Amino acid sequence: MKKFFLDLGLQPLANKYLKEFKSNQIKYKLKIYFDTKSKLVSISKRIPSKIMFDAKYPYRSSMSNTMRKSFKDLASEIKKRFNPRILLEIGSNDGALILNFNKNNVIGVEPCKNLAKITKKKNYKTYDNYWNFELSKKIKKKFKSIDLIYSANTLTHISDLNNVFKSINHVLSKKGILIIEDPSLLECIKKNSYDQFYNEHIYLFSAISVKNLLKNYNLEIFDIKNLSTHGGSLRYYIKRKSNKLIKKTRQVNKQIHKEKQYGLNKFETYKKFSKNVFKSKNNLLKILNKIKKERKKIIGYGATAKAVTILNFCNINKDLISSFIDITPEKINHYMPGKNIKILKYNKSMLKNYHYAFLGAWNFKKEILNKEKKHIKKGLRFITHVPQPQIL
Ligand code: TMP
Repeated sequence: MKKFFLDLGLQPLANKYLKEFKSNQIKYKLKIYFDTKSKLVSISKRIPSKIMFDAKYPYRSSMSNTMRKSFKDLASEIKKRFNPRILLEIGSNDGALILNFNKNNVIGVEPCKNLAKITKKKNYKTYDNYWNFELSKKIKKKFKSIDLIYSANTLTHISDLNNVFKSINHVLSKKGILIIEDPSLLECIKKNSYDQFYNEHIYLFSAISVKNLLKNYNLEIFDIKNLSTHGGSLRYYIKRKSNKLIKKTRQVNKQIHKEKQYGLNKFETYKKFSKNVFKSKNNLLKILNKIKKERKKIIGYGATAKAVTILNFCNINKDLISSFIDITPEKINHYMPGKNIKILKYNKSMLKNYHYAFLGAWNFKKEILNKEKKHIKKGLRFITHVPQPQIL
């Protein structure tokens, strides 16, 4: 049974950065539920993929050193540990992972045509389609079977998980490995980072819910890694149940035990989380309003989809955060979805004009604070809402 625990109000599509501000930009309800049987946390409103992931999708995986390094490290690990003949990536974005491999050994699947074009241009085999059974049949016909399938921050975006896993099962070889990587529900609850929820993030996985889900497809987790990316993610290493050659590591039960100890299998935990979210909203607004009263200026640093949830849930307008800065070409000179707040092109010197910077990209805190050391020395203060609203 699905039980409701958090209402984040009306939210625009998190990655629809408009060129002209529209006060009537379409908004959708963002309500979060916990399934008492499968332990899966999900949002209720499902928006068709075609509306969210189109030929103008602005999110680029390669925009930060942190993510480029994470994918590079993973590529070396995959080569050493699994040495796949062919690797298929579901949601290959701008090629942050696949470009680390020889082009003859990888296949990308990326429905956002503007992104697929980037790897196609570099002669990497890329299907600009949605991942589904039709596509898996096409791939199987051409490549027979795939011995490693990887997908980061993508499966949580696809409503029909049955179709996802049925299609994976169709192309994955008998001894094949599936690696999936997504934000960790445990980290989200611990850090009170409710901005992990937006209309693209249909699910927020835990090891408990992934384990339950995989049972239906005769797949099982054999290893888990905790990652610091995206504010705390889990990388699940998965195999077919029938493959007895690979042994399960201790990490799997350790993670599940940790999640159970924190109460991720109980509804009460989510009710408590919901209360903390409202507290966080009030405290963040207190900080921003105090700064406004002092007539000091705040800029948003990193025009993330996560920040869109914060702005719209907390009703933060231009009077509190006058503009955002970002390095992504697709976001620059556009407006934060749902808000009349413009995204400016990042340049180091413009930070001189602000007293405070709200960390929209708090998941890159280390990288950003390091980059802006000089401004911090001169008095720039960063504001974050994670794990609780504070001035750093
Ligand atoms: P993400 O949190 O969804 O990965 O998005 C991070 C956003 O932050 C992305 O739009 C790029 C932006 N960003 C900067 O503008 N400057 C930076 O130094 C970093 C690390 C990210």
